[in-house]
Amino acid sequence: MSKEIVVSGIRPTGYLHIGNYFGAIQNFVRMQDHYQCYFFVADLHSLTTHPDRADLKTQVLRVLAENIASGLDPDKVALYVQSDVPEIPELYLLLNMLAYKGELEKVPTFKEKVRQHPENVNAGLLTYPSLMAADILIHRALKVPVGKDQEQHLEMTRNLAVRFNHRYGDLFPEPQAFNFTEHLVKINSLDGAGKMSKSQHEMATLYLADTDEQIRKKIMKAKTDAGPSAPNTPMPDYIENLFTLMRLVSEADVTEHFVQAYAACNIRYGDLKKQLAEDMIRFVAPIRERAAAIQADEHYLRNVMKNGAEKARESAAATIRLARERMGLHYY
Ligand code: TRP
Repeated sequence: MSKEIVVSGIRPTGYLHIGNYFGAIQNFVRMQDHYQCYFFVADLHSLTTHPDRADLKTQVLRVLAENIASGLDPDKVALYVQSDVPEIPELYLLLNMLAYKGELEKVPTFKEKVRQHPENVNAGLLTYPSLMAADILIHRALKVPVGKDQEQHLEMTRNLAVRFNHRYGDLFPEPQAFNFTEHLVKINSLDGAGKMSKSQHEMATLYLADTDEQIRKKIMKAKTDAGPSAPNTPMPDYIENLFTLMRLVSEADVTEHFVQAYAACNIRYGDLKKQLAEDMIRFVAPIRERAAAIQADEHYLRNVMKNGAEKARESAAATIRLARERMGLHYY
């Protein structure tokens, strides 16, 4: 029996942090045995902001290395770089004929970019959703593991799929957002200011590339307060977040000890942070070291990218052939 097809794109911007790890990468890693997975670095998407050539290369290699170091297995999934699969931009062009200016202008992420960078509203930015639709539809995928912020883009993908099918005959399934694990772990920033994110200030974000010393420093600086003053007080978000992290990286009995101490109002946040820092280091250090070794091995990464592109192009070529045929693009 053939496995269901899953596609997801990874932006090659910034270092991955533990929010990415527990929220997204771990989800990918768990899927790789159960689905036919296509995971790619979305380098063409990143061109909307005109990255420097050398930076682009570093970012692409790093994001591949960090994902592999986190457990993504290039033998199990097709792990590739978007620009190595020319069938994607070809399908993008075809889909753009069905994408209307008005609907593209209404996409919230586009409106946000226009607000942030009114000097760089290029056509690539406007048609970002068509390229993302091409990424997904090129493999005729059913499932797309993405966060809530991508829901509008997926909606647009479904619209384009339905429009194509309606005009030219059934070809594309309607892909849905999908999480393999029941509840995804959401990690907040260490300063208590919402979700951990790449763009937020560095001291409140734990990166997979952080040194032991950086991890220690960041955790010791995490926001706390004077502690609960009545038994069984509900936890504020920023304390809950420290416990969430502890559940992910510490032994169960260690976590339980601090849970009890909180309930009994005799918790010492300094002790909790020290413990969490050491357990986080134990967790992150091997990933960081593997990632650094992989990133330095360009020969290995070249093979990963080549093999990944080969797998992706096999599936992509079959779809493009059908799309061209349906649209009447064959004359001899
Ligand atoms: N837009 C996604 C993001 O910002 C990245 C992405 C590009 C993607 N193409 C995709 C995700 C296709 C899933 C499927 O995170």
